[in-house]
Amino acid sequence: MPYEFLTTARDGSIEYLTLNRPDVRNAFNEQVIAELADWAAKTRDAAERRELRAVVIAGAGKLFCAGADVTSMSKTVRYSEEENLRDAMAMSRMFSAINELPLAVIGRVQGAALGGGAGLAAVCDIVVASDDAVFGFTEVKLGIIPAVISPFALAKIGQSSARELFLTGARFPASRAKEIGLVHAVVAIAELDATVDRYVQEILTAGPEAVAAAKALIPHVWELTIEEAMTITARAIATRRVSAEGQDGLRAFLEKRKPSWWSAR
Ligand code: COA
Repeated sequence: MPYEFLTTARDGSIEYLTLNRPDVRNAFNEQVIAELADWAAKTRDAAERRELRAVVIAGAGKLFCAGADVTSMSKTVRYSEEENLRDAMAMSRMFSAINELPLAVIGRVQGAALGGGAGLAAVCDIVVASDDAVFGFTEVKLGIIPAVISPFALAKIGQSSARELFLTGARFPASRAKEIGLVHAVVAIAELDATVDRYVQEILTAGPEAVAAAKALIPHVWELTIEEAMTITARAIATRRVSAEGQDGLRAFLEKRKPSWWSAR
C-alpha cells in the first residue's frame, strides 16, 4: 500500500515513521488511520522476523500531531450511530496495533500532541519531547471525549491526572507531561534527535526477544494479583534464561564480550 500521508525510512533495524500532513498539523483522517494500521501490521511482521528492533514516530512540520481531523470528524454527524461505531473502531484498532508492537516504539514530539496526538504519544514506549511542546486531552473543548485513547492514556497517566486533564481539556507543558508519565525526557529542540538516538542505542544493546518479552509482560502482570503473577513471571524468566538469546547474553557478560545481538551505531 503506497502511503499518501506517512513517510518511512529504514536505518538498519530501526524504522523512522513520519506523519506527513503538516498543512493540517498531521491530523488523523480516515486515510491516515488506514495507513497507520497497515504500517503497524507490516511493522509487526518485520519485528517478528527480527528485521526491526525499534521504531521512531515523528510528525512533519511545526508539531507532532493535532489529533483527530476535526474537518472530517464534522462529517460524522451525518453518519448513523452504526457508521460512527465502525469509524471509531478503526481508530481504536490502529492505536491498539501500535500499542502492542513487539519492539520498542519511541515518540519524537515537537510543538504539540493534542487529542489523538496525545493518544499516539501514549502508545509509544518511550517519548522524548521538546521543552516547548504542549500536550492536551482537548476533546471536551469540542464537546466530545477522549474515549478511544483512554485505555492507553490511563495506562500512562493514571486516574488522578486523567480526572483533571480529561475533564478540563486543558493544555499542559512537556514538563507536566513528564511528571505524569506521558513523556520520559524533555530536552531543548536542538537536542531532540540526539536524545532519541540515545534511546535507540540503548535498545540496540538489549536483546531483541527480551525487549519484546519485557514489553508484553508489563500489561499482563498489571492485571494480576501477586499470587497469580508468581507462576507467570517465574515462567517468563525461566523461558528467557534457557533461550539462545538469554544464554548468549548471560555468557557474554561472564566472558567479557558483547553478545551476538549487541549493535553499536
Ligand atoms: N483537525 C483538522 N485540521 C486541523 C486540526 C485538526 N485537529 N488542527 C489544526 N488543523 C488545521 C487548521 O484548521 C488550519 O487549517 P487552515 O490552514 O485551513 O486554516 C491548519 O491546520 C493550521 O492550524 P493553525 O491553528 O493555524 O496552526 P497553529 O500551528 O497555529 O496551531 C494547533 C496548531 C494544533 C495548536 C491548533 O491548530 C489546534 O489547537 N488545533 C486543534 C487541536 C485539537 O483540539 N485536537 C483534538 C481533536 S479531537
